[in-house]
Amino acid sequence: MKIIHTVSGLEEALQQVRRQGESIGFVPTMGALHEGHATLVRQSVAENDFTVVSLFVNPTQFNNPEDLRLYPRTPERDHRLLERLGADLLFTPSVEEIYPEPDRRVFDFGLLDKVMEGRFRPGHFNGVAQVVSKLFRFVQPDKAYFGEKDFQQLVIVREMVRQLQLPVEIVGVPIVREPSGLAMSSRNARLSAQERENAAQIYRVLHDSLALKEACAPVKLAEWVVGEINKVPGLRVEYYEIVDGYSLQPVSTWEESGRSVGCVAVFCGAVRLIDHISYR
Ligand code: PAF
Repeated sequence: MKIIHTVSGLEEALQQVRRQGESIGFVPTMGALHEGHATLVRQSVAENDFTVVSLFVNPTQFNNPEDLRLYPRTPERDHRLLERLGADLLFTPSVEEIYPEPDRRVFDFGLLDKVMEGRFRPGHFNGVAQVVSKLFRFVQPDKAYFGEKDFQQLVIVREMVRQLQLPVEIVGVPIVREPSGLAMSSRNARLSAQERENAAQIYRVLHDSLALKEACAPVKLAEWVVGEINKVPGLRVEYYEIVDGYSLQPVSTWEESGRSVGCVAVFCGAVRLIDHISYR
């Protein structure tokens, strides 16, 4: 696996790949890789001739400097994992390489980024769009792979690709869970053993809520989910919204949407976790 730190080095390496007519799969990451990322990389390796992975902790998507400082970083482990998975190129640039000057672009995603993560992390999705659009420009992948765990991010990246008319296919890859049900996330590395046990209750409650769908309107079901999660010691729900899976706007009846999704953000101690469940 080639490791490249500069945009010019990346572009040069990929010119050769393209000259040989090879397809390029791309997995953007912020490192601290886990089985969820490994699934994205495996799928890219299986579906493309050449797989590029980027590892860049993007400062513009953190609205909280402390969260950026504490974001887990495990570069050596990440390199070894990517070698084993068969990635062809790791792009791991500095902040100056990606942002030689401040990125002042402001994206307009309508209502998509006004709810849930967008409401509680102002500017987060603008930062994601800034970095992903730059990475797409540098890599020019045929396909790019994103975890469905970051459900709202996936919807917004698809919208960005539509708006910018980028010739890349966005592939959403289902959530990978621990045996306990906890959604895999780089942030899980910051949980203590007890917190991990508590955090596993998030999915247990989401899963149990499926059985109540017939008996409850979305608003009532949402209240039940919030109450159950908040009963678990150390957990505090920031939001739970049942939304249409395309518009991300709240639904008040199940009939309103053919694809209702319940999205949650929960503080487990100091660590903020997100998850979701599909009610279909
Ligand atoms: O999902 C992530 O890890 C990040 O938001 C991404 C897509 C790599 C952009 O920094």
